[in-house]
Amino acid sequence: MNSWKSILQSSLKDNIEKVGPSATYAAMATVRRDNTPAVRTVVTRGFAGENHAENFGWHSDLLVVITDKRSDKIKEIQANPNTEINWYMNGTMEQFRIRGKVNIVEKNYVETKLEHLNSHFDQVETAGKYDQKSLGLQMFLKQQESGTTNTFNWQAERLRHFYQFGANMRKDMTIEKKQALQIDSIDEHGWFKSEQVQDLLEEAFENFVLLVIDVTSVRHWSPTTGTKLHSILLETTTSYDDVFNTLATTCL
Ligand SMILES: Cc1cc2nc3c(=O)[nH]c(=O)nc-3n(C[C@H](O)[C@H](O)[C@H](O)COP(=O)(O)O)c2cc1C
Repeated sequence: MNSWKSILQSSLKDNIEKVGPSATYAAMATVRRDNTPAVRTVVTRGFAGENHAENFGWHSDLLVVITDKRSDKIKEIQANPNTEINWYMNGTMEQFRIRGKVNIVEKNYVETKLEHLNSHFDQVETAGKYDQKSLGLQMFLKQQESGTTNTFNWQAERLRHFYQFGANMRKDMTIEKKQALQIDSIDEHGWFKSEQVQDLLEEAFENFVLLVIDVTSVRHWSPTTGTKLHSILLETTTSYDDVFNTLATTCL
């Protein structure tokens, strides 16, 4: 496992214990078409193919954020995929500045455009019986199995995040935003089914987009250790940071 990933996961666990789910909030920056920065709060959704409660059969170092395809950030990312996510974890006062490139996984994504992400995955065994697994995991596995290759299936990943998103959040992905969108069951391909709101679910799924961050460097600051840089593409720490670290550590 990447060193930055294990540090981040362990810090996140500590912070969720201390402050709850708000530990997953982070500020995500993109570049506007006029070259000015745009920053907004997002919820980080963990690593592609992974879930803290169940084994989905994959491990990766690709961070996932969920968004609506109608949001401004989509056009910005299409024009310039560079991002920096500033993830401040209040419970332990740690900061992770995560740089990378954003890949958009939408309804009609082009598989070949995401092939470069395959090397980020390791496949592991999933044990246990199908009917004992959560509906989200069943969805994922059925969709994964209906694919033609043995590589990671992004449609399966999109489906399981859509399921985990919850009925109230799915509602916000429709124009009317009127009623919670329950998923009752799934079909043989893992596709969601509902007696009452199938059309609205389809509409919500159309707008439901995964932002997959291919991380190039992580700059970790903690009150005890100062800055530690974990680079995939090497990058030097500026002396500015070191000065700040000394100051900040002294202040704390
Ligand atoms: C606590 C919090 C969490 C949020 N989580 C998300 C998120 O996960 N994804 C998202 O697209 N927007 C999220 N938002 C809304 C964004 O901050 C932003 O307002 C919205 O995405 C539109 O941004 P854009 O116009 O730059 O695309 C969140 C806002 C708050 C305050």
